[in-house]
Amino acid sequence: MIDHTRIRNAALRAKITTAEQAASLVRPGSTVGTSGFTGAGYPKAVPQALAALMEREHAKGNEYRIRLLTGASTGPELDGALAKVNGISFRMPYNSDPGLRARINKGETEYLDMHLSHVAPMAWAGFFGEIDTAIIEATAIREDGSIVPSSSVGNSKTWLDTAKQVIIEVNSWQDAALEGMHDIWYGAALPPHRQPIPLLRPDDRIGGTSLKVDPAKIVAIVETNAPDRNAPFSPPDETARGIAGHLMEFFRHEVKMGRLPPSLLPLQSGVGNVANAVMGGLEEGPFNDLTAYTEVIQDGMLGMLETGKMRVASATAFSLSPEAAESLNARMREFQKKIILRPQDISNHPGLIRRLGCIAMNGLIESDIYGNVNSTQIMGSKIQNGIGGSGDFARNAYISVFMTPSTAKGGKISAIVPMASHVDHITQDSQVLVTEQGLADLRGLSPKQRAEVIIANCAHPDYRPMLQDYYKRARAGSFGQQSPHLLNEALSWHQRFIDTGSMMP
Ligand code: COA
Repeated sequence: MIDHTRIRNAALRAKITTAEQAASLVRPGSTVGTSGFTGAGYPKAVPQALAALMEREHAKGNEYRIRLLTGASTGPELDGALAKVNGISFRMPYNSDPGLRARINKGETEYLDMHLSHVAPMAWAGFFGEIDTAIIEATAIREDGSIVPSSSVGNSKTWLDTAKQVIIEVNSWQDAALEGMHDIWYGAALPPHRQPIPLLRPDDRIGGTSLKVDPAKIVAIVETNAPDRNAPFSPPDETARGIAGHLMEFFRHEVKMGRLPPSLLPLQSGVGNVANAVMGGLEEGPFNDLTAYTEVIQDGMLGMLETGKMRVASATAFSLSPEAAESLNARMREFQKKIILRPQDISNHPGLIRRLGCIAMNGLIESDIYGNVNSTQIMGSKIQNGIGGSGDFARNAYISVFMTPSTAKGGKISAIVPMASHVDHITQDSQVLVTEQGLADLRGLSPKQRAEVIIANCAHPDYRPMLQDYYKRARAGSFGQQSPHLLNEALSWHQRFIDTGSMMP
């Protein structure tokens, strides 16, 4: 049911229209910035109406595609619907929709995979050209015309500031108690006028709770009632629990050595099943009074906030399974004081991550024997998702952890390879590597010392002898001895997989 009381500004109520009417205002070839981050808070009705419009125009032989800029990934009603009709010519900065992934990998959509903290400053600077339309999902519109974001903030502030016209979807499915949870700071500016960001702790509130917008720019408001649709999580399997176990042991050791306080440091946790399993490990572990300064709040983190294990979580979005999203909506008021949602240029701000001393924990596709990490491209050329916030956090964290099962695709692929087929995170940014086999603490080690620990602790036993053999021969025959390689063999495992379907000879 639509809650018609959500739009509390009388003048703006006059702009309520249908999704179809609003979609017709989005012109072919235009640049559209939308709300949405990891399947939360993205517009749902207007993009679907736009996809239907594109399909009709394509049937008539007319070109109708847009350049789509968001916070991060969205849901099937946005990326999925537009990809289905081949309606996206250019996409930025992150995608995890399978349909759009296929378009990108076929070369039909240009994809700019970016550090998420870079997007807003680059948009303000005009690097992406003019933003024609902003489409923003809101929980409510206040009496003063300001916009209460929904389950994500992402880049909504930036698109509202920079777009020539604005469309708002007011979604009654989003719980009214989201109002008050956001923290929107308006002090940022471009160099040389940047101001210091007055955030010293994850629980600091430094701004207001709604987004400003020039009411004259609002061309349509659409009332909706539709759930966020995030990919469901599978329960942690033995591999994920193994990874979480090694990491808990590492944290216990760091506390014992006095390198971490008993409440650890603000946690950042990436997306996916392994990250969620680590949250489960922390829930059962001996650490209390935890905090998070992260990008997304997943099921596991919500559980810790509920039990009191975690005191506060600062993020830019929720990334919840459908069940957890429904359950959160039913009890949103309980979480109001424990969760802060910020724009992604603040949640992912490199300076703040460094200042707070975050512990970054992210997934990977593959790591080479020296700890160069590929987070994004399968066999060096096919995009999986994107770098997301992993680079913002990994480079600036107090401890940067990367974690992965030691093999993929039923053992046909080793996650530890001689040379990474693409590098998102250089060795200097990966300090701890964990698989279900074990943990490699790489801090203070040179490349050759790293290789020995990574192969011994993290590689799967089926691939370990092959890696040892490669490394030994590389030591003997390499052009140089800083990070020994046999260049004509270094990527042969990947080529073997492409040729035969397995990295195993
Ligand atoms: N070669 C080929 N495919 C691989 C692979 C490899 N070395 N490693 C993983 N994959 C595939 C898996 O088989 C799986 O494919 P499927 O969906 O067809 O089954 C998919 O990648 C996801 O892998 P999974 O093992 O389920 O791990 P995950 O859910 O933890 O995701 C990443 C791992 C790297 C894809 C994910 O962490 C990611 O996108 N990271 C980059 C963004 C990021 O770190 N954001 C964090 C800040 S919020």
